[in-house]
Amino acid sequence: MLRFTSLLALWGAGSLVSAQTNQEDCPVTGVSIIAHSGDPVGKEQVYDGINMYVTGNASDTGVLYLTDVFGIQLLENKLLADSFGRAGYLTVAPDMFNGTPAPGDINGQPDFNVTDFLAKHSPEETDPILATAVDFMRTELGVKKVVVTGYCFGGRYAFRMLAEGKGADVGFAAHPSLLEDAEISAITGPASIAAADADDMTPAERRTQIEALLLETGMPYTLALYGGTSHGFGVRANVTDPKQKFGKEEAFFQAIRWFGAWA
Ligand SMILES: *[C@@H]1O[C@H](CO)[C@@H](O)[C@H](O)[C@H]1NC(C)=O
Ligand SMILES: *[C@@H]1O[C@H](CO)[C@@H](O)[C@H](O)[C@H]1NC(C)=O
Ligand SMILES: *[C@@H]1O[C@H](CO)[C@@H](O)[C@H](O)[C@H]1NC(C)=O
Repeated sequence: MLRFTSLLALWGAGSLVSAQTNQEDCPVTGVSIIAHSGDPVGKEQVYDGINMYVTGNASDTGVLYLTDVFGIQLLENKLLADSFGRAGYLTVAPDMFNGTPAPGDINGQPDFNVTDFLAKHSPEETDPILATAVDFMRTELGVKKVVVTGYCFGGRYAFRMLAEGKGADVGFAAHPSLLEDAEISAITGPASIAAADADDMTPAERRTQIEALLLETGMPYTLALYGGTSHGFGVRANVTDPKQKFGKEEAFFQAIRWFGAWA
């Protein structure tokens, strides 16, 4: 249970950062594209019993956004999905936890049982929700190609969605947790990872193993390490800390560049 204990510690670490108003210009297009605060601009829509957060205009390539354990209920997840929308991708973030994500302040919720949470949200439960999201994107929204971005819990599923027949063509994951060797080996499309240098879930030794497994796949891949960041930075960075702010923004642009190159 050591692993779950460290999960608990990490998810709770720093709790949720209330970001200041902060917009960044995309260095490539000059368009203000990434927002860390403000109001979400997308809308929620139920499809086949699953709540979907939909944001951005129609596009041939759509982004499937897979959240951390805090789900689409977390403001930062909606705002980051909106940023993918502004980058030109119709973006869909399914409610992976059916309305009951992990509480935002895990440390303040002693009754929250991580073991139980992970058991309830196993691949057997989660994969069908993601298949529904892909179906929604293709049949309702007219998306022709699906690329996937995932964070922490969702990062593992970004890899699962790259397996044969799962529906995604290109994948990006920031600080994936619980990612298994076989899930890396099974990818059939390009994969990119943004890693934190202070991530108990993925220490340096595990990162090296992941790099070796990526190489073996024969697929295009990148693994970028961001100094001064910790688990969760891709979504929940403390953007008053320059290193974390840079890491979060650069991880976003890493994903955008990756999709632009391979989708
Ligand atoms: C969607 O399209 C409208 C009309 O062209 C435009 O004003 C708006 O900025 C677009 N939204 C995004 C997120 O690109
Ligand atoms: C947490 O959940 C697991 C699995 O449902 C259960 O076996 C365990 O007893 C629970 N722990 C606590 C402290 O309630
Ligand atoms: C965020 O970072 C700033 C600057 O490093 C620091 O002063 C502040 O305590 C941090 N906030 C949290 C919630 O960790």
